[in-house]
Amino acid sequence: MEELDLLIASALEGNKRAISKLISRVEQGSSSEVIRKLAGKLGKAKVIGITGPPGAGKSTLTNALISLFRQRRETVGVVAIDPTSPFTGGAILGDRVRLNSDPDEGVFFRSMGTRGAYGGLSVATRGAINVLDACGYDVIIIETVGVGQGEVEIINHADLVMVLAVPGLGDDIQAIKAGLLEIGDIFVVNKSDLPGADRVAVELRAGISLSAGEKYEQIPIIMVSAETGMGLDKLLDSIDNVFEKLNDSGEILLRRALRLSGGSRLGLQVNKGESKMKCLHFDHIGVAVKNLEDAAKFYEAVLGIKPTGIEEVEEQKVKVMFMPCGDCEFELLESTSPDGPVARFIEKYGEGVQHIAIRVDDIDAALAELKEKGIRLIDETPRYGAGGARIIFIHPKATNGVLLELCERK
Ligand code: CO
Repeated sequence: MEELDLLIASALEGNKRAISKLISRVEQGSSSEVIRKLAGKLGKAKVIGITGPPGAGKSTLTNALISLFRQRRETVGVVAIDPTSPFTGGAILGDRVRLNSDPDEGVFFRSMGTRGAYGGLSVATRGAINVLDACGYDVIIIETVGVGQGEVEIINHADLVMVLAVPGLGDDIQAIKAGLLEIGDIFVVNKSDLPGADRVAVELRAGISLSAGEKYEQIPIIMVSAETGMGLDKLLDSIDNVFEKLNDSGEILLRRALRLSGGSRLGLQVNKGESKMKCLHFDHIGVAVKNLEDAAKFYEAVLGIKPTGIEEVEEQKVKVMFMPCGDCEFELLESTSPDGPVARFIEKYGEGVQHIAIRVDDIDAALAELKEKGIRLIDETPRYGAGGARIIFIHPKATNGVLLELCERK
């Protein structure tokens, strides 16, 4: 038997060291190989994602839930996302603290870093969940960091998403990003023995009603105190209830299929909130070239497209030549500095299409909507591009690999 097969056999027997090593393999990049070998053993665990702002008490709630599930003799695997941890190393301390405080055979705890991941969750997270699922853990809890634009991504990893709120975090539910209001299956007001808890619940209900549509009244908001145990029995009932409904409706199959295939519920979910953004048409295609005059020869002499002038955009360290073609145009880009984005692009990929731009009617509204949906951006505020357009760039990680510019021209 190969070493990996031995490791898998041992992990499937419940050996925690082996499980841990297997997850490390996944973190080091062997995710698909490991998952392929575990196929057929996946899709049985109930995967619960816990998210919410920092300070909401996610770890305390996770620990409380572990005890509850253990009382029912269900085994629990925990994957905690730790932003301070580099891919493997730094998470060890967290593991040790938790493992020492809980030597229970039926609990497995693992922290993971977020480095290299899109937002707060990574490919490795999916791999770790699958390993724990295959190894027979009844319940898997994913605890997220509560920061970063990718937080809503939890929806692609969990069967049930629990969003935590807490009184006293300044602007109350402002601390919960709107995107999270759309994805919660259960909302939990933790530390509900503190003043202001009722108001948080009311604000949550209002927030959910805006984002969840007609179904909002059915979405539970549970008041608990993870520390004193108050309300936790209700929360457990609520979790059981949601899983029952998901089973009855068959929705659980869809969620699991997407989770296992690496698919995304995010797109489906985002559509629910209906886009208000108005994309008018393609505006231009940005082509990184080494020399504008040389490049223009092809466009002008061969395609017969006349340039409308050359402009320097200092902030972008680039000289731009526009070559209009119908409603759209080529934007030839020559770097004016070896450390500019276009120079770096050419160094990495050679000359070629560097970005694509879409014209929107209102860049500020577009930006607000993108932020609300937690889309990864390069620009947090609009800046001025060539021709006086106000532009922002969306990160290629959010667009399946296209550096996408949105521009507004008046
Ligand atoms: Co452009």
